[in-house]
Amino acid sequence: MNMPTYRDEPFKWYEFMRQNHPVFRYGNSVHVFKYNDILNVLSNHRVFSSQFRDLLDENLSGILNEKIAPSILILDPPKHTELRNLINYAFVPKTIDNYENRIRQIADDLIINMLTEKNVDIVAKLSYPLPVMVISEILGIPDNDMPLFKIWSDRLASSLGRGPDIKTQYEIADYFYGLIRKPDKLKGLLKDLCTVEIDGRKLTDQEIVSFAILLLVAGNETTTNLITNTILTISENKKYFYEMQNDASLIPAVIEETLRYRSPVQSTRRYAREDTEISGTEVLKNDIVFLYLGSANRDEDIYKEPDLFDPKRNNKRHMAFGHGIHFCIGAPLARLEAVVVLKEFSKFIKDFTVEKPSGDDRIDSDIMYGFKKLIINL
Ligand code: HEM
Repeated sequence: MNMPTYRDEPFKWYEFMRQNHPVFRYGNSVHVFKYNDILNVLSNHRVFSSQFRDLLDENLSGILNEKIAPSILILDPPKHTELRNLINYAFVPKTIDNYENRIRQIADDLIINMLTEKNVDIVAKLSYPLPVMVISEILGIPDNDMPLFKIWSDRLASSLGRGPDIKTQYEIADYFYGLIRKPDKLKGLLKDLCTVEIDGRKLTDQEIVSFAILLLVAGNETTTNLITNTILTISENKKYFYEMQNDASLIPAVIEETLRYRSPVQSTRRYAREDTEISGTEVLKNDIVFLYLGSANRDEDIYKEPDLFDPKRNNKRHMAFGHGIHFCIGAPLARLEAVVVLKEFSKFIKDFTVEKPSGDDRIDSDIMYGFKKLIINL
């Protein structure tokens, strides 16, 4: 039997690993595939740390920290809790819902623009531009700077999964430092971040800049992939597309099931602060622990017929946004963007087919699952 590989058949590879090596130790890395094991690791942030800069040589982490403070994604409590509390308000559904009309306008413009063509690359025309436009408006980037901002965003997107693009991050950092040093010209979230205060604690300039960069790195490509993956998945399950056209209330469930079935973020990592074990497999201090969220979301012990796309399944919990203290802060925004886009898509587009993407069309990344292009025929 040929063993499936992550690159060619990620979901078959996960199934093979869940059945044969649910916790697999290799060198100083440990790979975890079962839902409950991943849940336990993510719940135990005291032992399984996100603070990867602690593993670096002190000099190197000092140099990195000078320009871009470590973001919440790579901090443990108490620093993580303190920062997350300061920025949380900006991402709660109550705040995010204010953006709904503007997201709809952007989605309508992009979709109407597509309608004159017969074969459309949905990534280039819709799922890629929308999140960049939304986040730059939320942050309050001046209109004149949009082209520059888009170039950086493109460069960040193409570096994902291949390690951080430090040069681009430094350029963006300098740009944001320039913006926040002219406080009277600030608007949007950047302005809020400069003024927000809890118990006399304000964000430092470095923290503001690092958070703004994190939003670009963590929020754009992930949402692009969610939109593309949803359109691909409903093209393979057309009955739900027709149902959505008649009853938009099905759309949130279609998005949730796509998050489970084709999770935009397939894995995340922690490192062990001390010797421990996961379901009986030894884990040594400083081992890197790979958590396959995309495999948890197909775990047969949790989901009936996990390889079936079924927006009407009873069990809707999934791990596409992670779990525990680092649970995705952008989840309400990503969900809103995807729901609005799919509502407008199913309103303007009567029917469509998709040109089956080839293996090369899939994004070349160990972490992200999505497509560089997806052609739809209108
Ligand atoms: C964290 C997925 C969209 C901002 C996370 C994590 C996952 C994730 C799995 C947890 C990582 C870990 O525990 O190591 C996704 C997916 C998205 C999405 C699948 C789209 C479908 C967004 C958006 C934003 C965002 C739109 C912001 C605009 C963040 C931030 C964190 C995070 C700031 C770090 C939270 C923390 O460390 O406390 N995301 N994300 N994400 N996400 Fe998202």
